[in-house]
Amino acid sequence: MSYSIAIDGPAGAGKSTIAKIVAKKKGYIYVDTGAMYRAVALYFMEAGIDAKEQEKISTNVQNADVTITYENGEQIVWLNGRNVNGLIRTEEVGKMTSAISVNKDVRKKMVELQQALAKKECVVMDGRDIGTCVLPDANVKIYLTASSHVRAIRRFEELQSKGQECDLETIEKDIIDRDYQDMHREISPLRQAEDAMLLDSSDMTIEQVADAILKLC
Ligand code: DC
Repeated sequence: MSYSIAIDGPAGAGKSTIAKIVAKKKGYIYVDTGAMYRAVALYFMEAGIDAKEQEKISTNVQNADVTITYENGEQIVWLNGRNVNGLIRTEEVGKMTSAISVNKDVRKKMVELQQALAKKECVVMDGRDIGTCVLPDANVKIYLTASSHVRAIRRFEELQSKGQECDLETIEKDIIDRDYQDMHREISPLRQAEDAMLLDSSDMTIEQVADAILKLC
C-alpha cells in the first residue's frame, strides 16, 4: 500500500511550499491538485464557456484531458497535450477555478485522477478535499491554515517581489471571498477532516510547519 500525506487548507496558507519540502524529505511525489483544477478552468476560459454555464461545463469537461508528469521533481500539468504550467497561476484563472470547482462532473473527474495517482505512488497531496474525500484513508492528514490577514500579506509580498502592482486590501478581500466560496459549496467543501491535525501557520516559520508534519510521519 502506498503511503499518503494529505494537506488541506484555504488559499495562501502555505500548503504547496510545505508539501514540496515534506515530499522532498520523504522522497514522495508532490501532487498539487489545485493546479489540476486550474488547468480545467483554463480550458473553459479558452473555450469561452462561462462559470455560470454549469450544464455546458458538465458536458465539456470530458474534452479537457488533464495529465501530470514530473521533471526534476517539478509537477508539469498538461492540458490536451500542452504544458500549461506558465498559464495557470494568474488571479483570473484562480477565480475561475474556484467557480468551476463546484461542478460535480469536474470534481468526479479530478478525484478519480488523483486517487489513481495515490494508488501507484507515495504522495504528499495538497488541496481542499484530500483528507475528506480524495484520500479518506491517508496515513497523515493536516489542515493547514493562517489568518486571512497573514495570508494576504504573504501574497502581497510575493507579488511585490515579482514587481507586480497590487493592493493589500483587495488581496485580503479576494482571499476572504475565495474562502467563502470554497467552504460553502455543496460538493466536498473545504473543511477540516475529523482526523486531521490543525496547524495554524500565522505565527510559524516554514521550517516549523514542515518539522511538525514530518514528526507525524
Ligand atoms: O490551491 P489553489 O489556489 O491552486 O486552488 C485553486 C482553486 O481550486 C480553489 O479555489 C478551489 C479549487 N480546488 C478544489 O476545489 N479542490 C482541490 N482539491 C484543489 C483546488
